[in-house]
Amino acid sequence: MYEYFPIQRTDYDGPVLITGAGGCIGSWAMALLVRAGVPVVAFDLTQDRRRPGLLLSNDELASIRWLTGDVADTDTVTKAVESSRATAIVHLAALQVPFCKADPVAGARVNVVGTINVFEAARRLDIRRITYASSIAAHGAMEGHGTLPTLYGAYKFCNEETSRVYSQDWGVHSVGLRPGVVYGVGRDQGMTSKTTVAILAAAAGKDYTVPFTGPVSWLHAGEVASAFLKAVSKEREGAPVFDINGVASDVESSLAVLAGIAPAAKIGASGAALPFPMALSDEPVRAHLGNYGSVPLEAGIRATFDAFRGLLAAGRLDAANLA
Ligand SMILES: NC(=O)c1ccc[n+]([C@@H]2O[C@H](COP(=O)([O-])OP(=O)(O)OC[C@H]3O[C@@H](n4cnc5c(N)ncnc54)[C@H](O)[C@@H]3O)[C@@H](O)[C@H]2O)c1
Repeated sequence: MYEYFPIQRTDYDGPVLITGAGGCIGSWAMALLVRAGVPVVAFDLTQDRRRPGLLLSNDELASIRWLTGDVADTDTVTKAVESSRATAIVHLAALQVPFCKADPVAGARVNVVGTINVFEAARRLDIRRITYASSIAAHGAMEGHGTLPTLYGAYKFCNEETSRVYSQDWGVHSVGLRPGVVYGVGRDQGMTSKTTVAILAAAAGKDYTVPFTGPVSWLHAGEVASAFLKAVSKEREGAPVFDINGVASDVESSLAVLAGIAPAAKIGASGAALPFPMALSDEPVRAHLGNYGSVPLEAGIRATFDAFRGLLAAGRLDAANLA
């Protein structure tokens, strides 16, 4: 899978700090950097390296300096950025839709204050390469897009506005990306993780029903991680924000692709369509960033299925409680 993503060591002038490094996209970003020989520093709330451990060997994991702390704490973030000696930040730490709904104040602290902390640290420490994760859910905070408004989307939209002001007032420039539905090894939480759970179920020989139907985007976790890394492969101006969708499909026909790879699997789908835009164009982000790689749907599902089979066989992944 790594051959899809063109990460060049010479594009980076120092360590890359990744917040939310223990998450799905963070794990892929670390794996791509380590393989390219770029120094990487991880920042996350805990020492939990379960997801990165699905992609990296123990030796590779041990080569990554791992800082723990709460992104919502201003001093902690400033110290982490300072001690990392990073020249680029990929800011991914966040609470996803269900967690923001369950605890709106915690969601705002992590998703909004956490992002301001990252921009403040960049301003104070003169970090000139910054990228951060918004979401397609941000469309729900904009009028006229017919997207379900969520607190998560409202917080993400707030971050986009924050980034514009940091660029305008202090010359702290950034690139924001709004990923669609991310799939791949390591995707195991959030309301849109169920297409990945379906692949895991197929690999484990279990029945599974995806709890939504209709249009869905398939954005490989390596592809979106590669786009974040491309965003900080040089200094950029302004604070543009881009949708990043991957392959536009629908649940039914993508499960037919999975059935072609795993004919014995009993995977279905039921329920309403996801209330988010699922066929947004990647042309603007590709025009801005340049080539960051692209994973065809069949190849991405097959590679994810094969990886899950290998991890299950090695006892490195548990498919006992698929939800
Ligand atoms: N996965 C998707 O489909 C998707 C879609 C759109 C946007 N995004 C955004 O991309 C980013 C990464 O997504 P992901 O799927 O890798 O998420 P994830 O949920 O797998 O990982 C998030 C990471 O952030 C860490 N984190 C949470 N609270 C923290 C805190 N207070 N301090 C430090 N770290 C903290 C978690 O421990 C976790 O390792 C997030 O900002 C998410 O909102 C993801």
